[in-house]
Amino acid sequence: MTKFPEYRPRRMRATEGLRKLVRETTFSLDQLIMPYFVMDGNGLKEEIQSMPGQFRFSIDQLMHELEELDELGVQHILLFGIPNEKDAQASGAYDSNGVIQRASREIKKRFPKITLITDVCLCEYMSHGHCGVVEGEKILNDTTLVLLQKTALSHAEAGVDIVAPSDMMDGRIGAIRSVLDEHGFSELPILSYAAKYASSFYGPFRDAAGSSPQFGDRKSYQMDPANVEEALREIELDLEEGADLIMVKPALSYLDVIRAAKTKFHFPIAAYNVSGEYAMVKAAHAMGYLDEKKVVPEILTAISRAGARVILSYHAKEVARWARESGTPFLIKTYGK
Ligand code: PBG
Repeated sequence: MTKFPEYRPRRMRATEGLRKLVRETTFSLDQLIMPYFVMDGNGLKEEIQSMPGQFRFSIDQLMHELEELDELGVQHILLFGIPNEKDAQASGAYDSNGVIQRASREIKKRFPKITLITDVCLCEYMSHGHCGVVEGEKILNDTTLVLLQKTALSHAEAGVDIVAPSDMMDGRIGAIRSVLDEHGFSELPILSYAAKYASSFYGPFRDAAGSSPQFGDRKSYQMDPANVEEALREIELDLEEGADLIMVKPALSYLDVIRAAKTKFHFPIAAYNVSGEYAMVKAAHAMGYLDEKKVVPEILTAISRAGARVILSYHAKEVARWARESGTPFLIKTYGK
């Protein structure tokens, strides 16, 4: 390689124009998915304490929110349901009149162009807060698959664009794929939370959804944070079972996993910038330690640089707003549709 003084790396950093010209990573709003919590009731918009700026919406209030989101140019959303009633069979998860199913029908009617992705999991609907059916202290794998199939099918029937299983039971992608195919939904994509770690960064989410396990933890089904080879096996299995998109979750502490997945598989990789990562930024910003308008684009760029094409982030909406207000150097501006 040419050395100093012939080569001066600073030459190509001198102006914003030159920096833009050689920028290796850019991303656009097209890649961002904004997560939302939807709950039963009417006229409700409750701020989530540990996630400032994020709310639990009743369906009617969510519609107002989506008008704003749509206007800002964020085109994809992920929906989590918070039911009024929980039980040991998670019946709210696959009820055709459940909160997600009603919200989905309404969203597809009012906002046909929004990509509607629904989280397929049982923990928000289970009285014990686990992602599967429980017997004693055990989480039963194969019994759970049947409920996940019913849940995914009910979302498909409500008109969603992508189902996203996040439970980490073995064999769920194949089970869901086959039930969708049997019922005429062979065109419906599956976004698999393939490499989902047993992470403490989900803390604020569990407050938001009231889905903390009542006993034990999720370590017998979610992955050990120390492992990367296992993540690649998980991803491989899910692709073989019919996943269309695969996800690494969380994102920030797992950038190496995103990169390893990107190198090995020729599929679009999604990464979930989770609730705890969001909460850290908000807390530091509130203390005056960091400027969120600067660190958030840097974080999203880092996740993208690691190899994620799709990023799920609670920052999606504000980033779109900031980009419109001032222009963010990291964002390609794709306003409107
Ligand atoms: C449901 C689910 C969780 C998250 C996404 N889907 C919680 C968990 O597994 O405990 C976490 C999302 C976040 O922290 O932002 N299983």
